[in-house]
Amino acid sequence: MDDLRIKYIAAIAETADEAALEELRVQAVGKKGEISLKMRELGKMTPEERQVAGPALNALKNEVNSAIAARKVALADAALDERLRTEWLDVTLPGRPRRQGTIHPVSQVTEEVTAIFADMGFSVAEGPQIETDWYNFDALNIPGHHPARAEMDTFYTHRKEGDNRPPHVLRTHTSPVQIRSMEAKGAPIRIICPGRVYRADYDQTHTPMFHQVEGLAIGKDISMANLKWVLEEFFSAFFGGPVKTRFRASHFPFTEPSAEVDIQCSWEGGTVKVGEGDDWLEVLGSGMVHPHVLKSAGVDPAEWQGFAFGIGIDRLAMLKYGIPDLRAFFDSDLRWLRHYGFSALQMPTVHAGVNG
Ligand code: PHE
Repeated sequence: MDDLRIKYIAAIAETADEAALEELRVQAVGKKGEISLKMRELGKMTPEERQVAGPALNALKNEVNSAIAARKVALADAALDERLRTEWLDVTLPGRPRRQGTIHPVSQVTEEVTAIFADMGFSVAEGPQIETDWYNFDALNIPGHHPARAEMDTFYTHRKEGDNRPPHVLRTHTSPVQIRSMEAKGAPIRIICPGRVYRADYDQTHTPMFHQVEGLAIGKDISMANLKWVLEEFFSAFFGGPVKTRFRASHFPFTEPSAEVDIQCSWEGGTVKVGEGDDWLEVLGSGMVHPHVLKSAGVDPAEWQGFAFGIGIDRLAMLKYGIPDLRAFFDSDLRWLRHYGFSALQMPTVHAGVNG
């Protein structure tokens, strides 16, 4: 038994890793291990022999087991020491930057516009971008022969051959949402409708898809004076200071009287600045809703009246944030998006200043 003890205790001390230690454990005290087999022989002994050999074997087994456990801990400690010695990390290194997306100026400005009009009691309405001929034109007092249809550079969809119904259009303005909203909610009503619109047009300030926000306020005694106040209030909140506006008499089939509104700006050095200089940029069309339009939407023009306007959102973004070319808005150039985009944490407020 002393031989066994010397043999295993020495071997355990020399094991180089856990696998070797396990092998040794099986060999000594496993089911068919050398010590286990010896214990089985106890049955063949005389009671006297057994009284001596039994406790001695048990003691040996315990001694081997605890030597194995101790070696296991020592090996694990050594392995950890080795890892700590070889693996290291320079915690002073700069982190790897993760690219973050930005909020597109159009989304940012849409949020800002919505927030300001919400403060003035306007709620948000939406309509489809593929619109029927009726909502985009007829209901807005633009009959088939009206020159405004040609002027709008409309994109038409195609009907199957033999289907003579008028084709649907990509809406050329957000004005059809006026009709849809009055049909759904009647009067009085106070809404804005932001969204995409389409016209076949392309230069520095025109793209075939752009954004408008429609405004509509219908009540018993709403006048042109209310329109002017609402728009001026909007511009000073949006640009964070007084902005000169110019109301020019104009014509739209769906308003009477009608006015186009320009904002004062300068174009020095290729960037546009609002509230300076002596250039004007047209940002919206407006007027008193035409009685025919009210009637088309099921609202009695003898009882109700009000104003409507349509603002170019992209134009507003160009003006407020000094962006010279509209076409770049929709190029998806990452450098442009990073430069002009907004952080997700930059919340729009009614009080934000120019470029703020
Ligand atoms: N729908 C007009 C346009 O797209 C703008 C407008 C809206 C004018 C509402 C008057 C009233 O140009």
